[in-house]
Amino acid sequence: MADARNEWAAFFDEHAPAYDDNCFTKNTLREVDFLIETLALAPGASILDVGCGTGRHAVELARRGYAVTGVDISAGMLAQAAARAREAGVAVEFRRADATRFAPDRRYDAAICLCEGAFGLLGGRDDALAQPLAVLGAVAAALGPGGPCLFTVLNGLAMIRKHAPADVAAGRFDPQALAEESECVAPGISGPHLLKERAFVPTELTLLFAVAGLEIIDLWGGTAGNWGRRPVDLDEMEIMVHARKACDPAASPAEILARRARGKEGGHA
Ligand SMILES: C[S@@+](CC[C@H](N)C(=O)[O-])C[C@H]1O[C@@H](n2cnc3c(N)ncnc32)[C@H](O)[C@@H]1O
Repeated sequence: MADARNEWAAFFDEHAPAYDDNCFTKNTLREVDFLIETLALAPGASILDVGCGTGRHAVELARRGYAVTGVDISAGMLAQAAARAREAGVAVEFRRADATRFAPDRRYDAAICLCEGAFGLLGGRDDALAQPLAVLGAVAAALGPGGPCLFTVLNGLAMIRKHAPADVAAGRFDPQALAEESECVAPGISGPHLLKERAFVPTELTLLFAVAGLEIIDLWGGTAGNWGRRPVDLDEMEIMVHARKACDPAASPAEILARRARGKEGGHA
């Protein structure tokens, strides 16, 4: 990989052996059922898993007959994912790459980016708008017209409600970037890692996805371990985004947004 590891790669390299002990990873089978249904995955469909981590979704999807490519910046997480695939006796293509620089060399039928994946996990040099847009650009490039995708991302509404002016003054919360910076500790970690993660509000998500050529179909509350098709909540940790690549890939962001607004008039999200 040409580019350097970022702070998140260093964190996840250390945390990888303990990652699957996190309680939010315990609903993977039901999450995969949800993905198959929501993305209407045809048997044998090809799927790009961005920020695939230890491969919990990628390997389960492969076990069910899908052709999966998992991309992750952390060699440690990918090592766990490869071991999981071997144990399950399935073939999954795992690639180490920074999703903000990932140029897919083929088209996929669907894409997923779950439990943040790469989306909004900011490296020290990342810009708060350019980073998520680059991830969306990679996903859009991987999909054919109308190709579906599902993201779960940090909920900006909850992040704002959690913080006070003192957090801004102390540099723990950056209201311009809608990002938190904190010393993270987790099982397996030798010492605290200074990490920055970015949250999103629904209107911004709709705009960012449109800029990348993706049209949002549904925005739901959908925190890891507790997915559902329910309204976005002010205090829930994550938001789920169900989207598709615009059927007309030449459509401008304004056209994508206008189409979505017309769909809402017709009763869609
Ligand atoms: C919270 S984990 C989620 C893993 C998996 N999707 C899941 O649902 O369990 C976030 C993953 O995204 C990866 N990641 C973070 N930034 C990334 C980037 N810029 N490019 C690719 N992967 C990234 C991390 O290494 C980590 O494996």
